[in-house]
Amino acid sequence: MLLLKLIYYPNILLRQKTKSVNKINFKVKNIIYNMFKVMYLNKGIGLAATQIGINKKIFIIDIFQNKKRVFINPKILKKKGKIYFKEGCLSIPGVFNIIKRYSYIKILALNKKNNFFKLKTKGIEAVCIQHEIDHLNGKLFIDYL
Ligand code: NI
Repeated sequence: MLLLKLIYYPNILLRQKTKSVNKINFKVKNIIYNMFKVMYLNKGIGLAATQIGINKKIFIIDIFQNKKRVFINPKILKKKGKIYFKEGCLSIPGVFNIIKRYSYIKILALNKKNNFFKLKTKGIEAVCIQHEIDHLNGKLFIDYL
């Protein structure tokens, strides 16, 4: 089984534009498994596939340490409001800055069982999701500074 490691800024792999997942096969499930391993090992609350060098539209979150969520091919359907939140990133250790985000979002994605789901969320979860979607577009939170 492949074991993928966290990559750090300024590695150019963090800047790659990701591609949609066509099929949730064993390889994709293995990537997701690896992502959770890397996220928990590094005590993160979210991780995007680009952070382990994979150019696929996949990110995961677990903000309250009991709610694992997988987002494949995510799309933001609605966004509104604003929130200022102090963000960090596992790929940029030791850097924290206040970033402006939408305070509310509605998102559509596939879960790892290949089912579509919609999620309406706000606050820290909405911030985290926007941060991870940026990763999938090769964007980092320090780009806002
Ligand atoms: Ni990050």
